[in-house]
Amino acid sequence: MKNNSYDCLLIVDFGSQVTQLIARRLRELRVYCEIHPYQNVNEHLVGQLSPKAIVLSGGPDSVTRDGSPRAHPIIFELGVPLLGICYGQQVMMHQLGGEVKSGIGTAEFGKAFVESKNLSDFIKGWFVDQKEQVWMSHGDHVSSIAPGFEVFGFSPNAPYAIIGDTKRHFYAVQFHPEVHHTPNGRTLFENFISIANINQNWTMEAYREIAIKKIREKVGSKRVICGLSGGVDSSVAAVLIHEAIGDQLTCVFVDHGLLRQGEAEEVVTMFRENYNIPLIHADESGLFLDNLEGQSDPETKRKTIGRLFVDVFQKYANGIENADFLAQGTLYPDVIESVSFKGGPSVTIKSHHNVGGLPEKMGLKLLEPLRELFKDEVRALGRELKLPENFINRHPFPGPGLAIRCPGKITRHKLEILRKADAVYIDQIRKHGLYNEIWQAFVAILPVRTVGVMGDGRTYDYACILRAVTSVDGMTADYYPFSHKFLSETATRLINEVEGINRVTYDITSKPPGTIEWE
Ligand code: XMP
Repeated sequence: MKNNSYDCLLIVDFGSQVTQLIARRLRELRVYCEIHPYQNVNEHLVGQLSPKAIVLSGGPDSVTRDGSPRAHPIIFELGVPLLGICYGQQVMMHQLGGEVKSGIGTAEFGKAFVESKNLSDFIKGWFVDQKEQVWMSHGDHVSSIAPGFEVFGFSPNAPYAIIGDTKRHFYAVQFHPEVHHTPNGRTLFENFISIANINQNWTMEAYREIAIKKIREKVGSKRVICGLSGGVDSSVAAVLIHEAIGDQLTCVFVDHGLLRQGEAEEVVTMFRENYNIPLIHADESGLFLDNLEGQSDPETKRKTIGRLFVDVFQKYANGIENADFLAQGTLYPDVIESVSFKGGPSVTIKSHHNVGGLPEKMGLKLLEPLRELFKDEVRALGRELKLPENFINRHPFPGPGLAIRCPGKITRHKLEILRKADAVYIDQIRKHGLYNEIWQAFVAILPVRTVGVMGDGRTYDYACILRAVTSVDGMTADYYPFSHKFLSETATRLINEVEGINRVTYDITSKPPGTIEWE
């Protein structure tokens, strides 16, 4: 949707796992941008958007492979500044007369250092020293640049790490300036925006206004049901949609029996006390647990929960006349790790239960107004919508709930132990004033029982892991560095207070290579 008050920057998606981070970096710089899969970018779309600049994203393919994605030629003819990133750089070189090689010595993964060469407005203020840290993730590299281009930076395996044609304002980098591991990546985006002369007037208030307009246009006079989980995402989605269409919205809170201790009551009370939105409390825990009991494969668990959610929503939707839409608080990290963004070409990591589309037979269309946002942006939008602060600051909780914190077979008994352990752990974190420092914390119960000794007796109980991570957006994360005192005090409390746990471990895996949840 072209909004005339804002200059638009078009991001052409070639399927990188981090394409949305480009959008996010640009929103941080108050630039309005839209992501479109490369297949959809044509004369019609660019005519509609009239972008003032275009970014070509990274992607998993190789331009040396026949049939791999290409940029529509119109992109190079518009006369607007271009920025190619990783695959975007390679495709740009390939199409403009340069060369890309794959094979030995062309790959680089992880941290690398780029050295400075020549000057340009594009790299102004970027090289603090002669070398700058970047994050590389490429199999191929550009081996010869297209006519008109010159080199501004190089690394051991990327001789053309930063290049540009300053006449046409086409720039390209082999690394990813959009990720946190390229610490000064923002400077390159700032320089690019300034070269493109883009107005930086985009705000969360503007996001809210445009989102409300889009919701009204999409929904018309139909009714919407919104799946409420009690987390910040679905709550923000519900309040936003309510602001757009008022009583055409009904919220359905599905208690799948996989919630944390006391959560169902808290959510219902908080919503009924603060909002005038019709709310159905659907206690379907029996249905979910009967179907999950004994299941151990992570994808089967996720898919079972997803399928049951669809069935349950269908049931409640049938009771609401004219219900045409199902609203969900799906965020971008859920989308990118499950299905390709807007039909783009990226790879599936986990099937998040709340994305992937609804079966056609359901007859409900999806309404996902937060689908392009990251967690912290949703929190900012929540503040914009005046949601209570304690709600906005809640740690994220996954849609499949405790099911994915119970690796191995799910049983009601293990879930009960897990609920108690989680409550003790979170209580400890709150008591030590750490809750808001940690992005997400939880306990997972392991599918192993271990031998212990308590009092003078032998125990043979479950082991659990504690997880606590810091993160900005859930895409990457580090473990939280608890003190030994905190850890031993918490372990003692868990073993003393939770029957069924006799061993406590702390997970110190970062993401990547791990994920935040265990399944
Ligand atoms: P992972 O484990 O993929 O988690 O590193 C990243 C963030 O997403 C949450 N998560 C989910 N949220 N539905 C959700 O709504 C899901 O299926 C799902 N799986 C993971 C996870 O808790 C973390 O905050």
